[in-house]
Amino acid sequence: MTMKRLLLATGYRGKIKEITALLATLPLEVLTPADLGGLPAVNEDQETFAGNAAKKAYRVSRATGEITLADDSGLEVEALGGLPGVRSARFAGPGADDAANNRLLLKLLAGRPPRERRARFRCAIALSVPGDKIYLVRGDCPGRIAEEPRGDGGFGYDPLFIYEPVGLTFAQLDPGFKNRVSHRGRALRQVYRLIKTILLPAG
Ligand code: IMP
Repeated sequence: MTMKRLLLATGYRGKIKEITALLATLPLEVLTPADLGGLPAVNEDQETFAGNAAKKAYRVSRATGEITLADDSGLEVEALGGLPGVRSARFAGPGADDAANNRLLLKLLAGRPPRERRARFRCAIALSVPGDKIYLVRGDCPGRIAEEPRGDGGFGYDPLFIYEPVGLTFAQLDPGFKNRVSHRGRALRQVYRLIKTILLPAG
């Protein structure tokens, strides 16, 4: 029996590792951009995470003919009208690093009490099946922005994002625990069920 192939439209090693581990028990041949000698560049210019994930999955599956999985994620802060949102990676400007993005976020929230520091991480994952449809799942994780960075694990806004059930930032959590409760973990568990249902029918 030939195994179904699934292309992950991300070059980011951390995400490839996380997704591959989650899908490891499924009979799939998981491909990465490197296996195809790179992927076409897709401009993530949509106004929503779902729009960007769907655009990327669709464009890449059209160009390669492969069943393709793409994701987009970021942080929304209520008091900032949902910023940084789809601009999370480049919040402090083109090429901004995590530290610069975090500094800008703290500056914008300076003096705000805890009730005005509510935020949520969001993740959208799209699965594009050539000749069929684009399927979409989402995962959210609510939290609060800290007054200063805490912890040195994770990446991005993790040191500022307090996961309230345990009162620690994502950067202070054990990575396995973060994956269980995070926006991406929640979306990925739905992807697992989706793939099982639509790509791997029973029998
Ligand atoms: P993308 O999904 O790779 O486009 O990521 C967008 C940006 O959102 C990242 O560069 C981070 O700044 C932020 N982000 C997304 N998920 C997380 C997370 O789990 N922790 C911290 N930051 C995140």
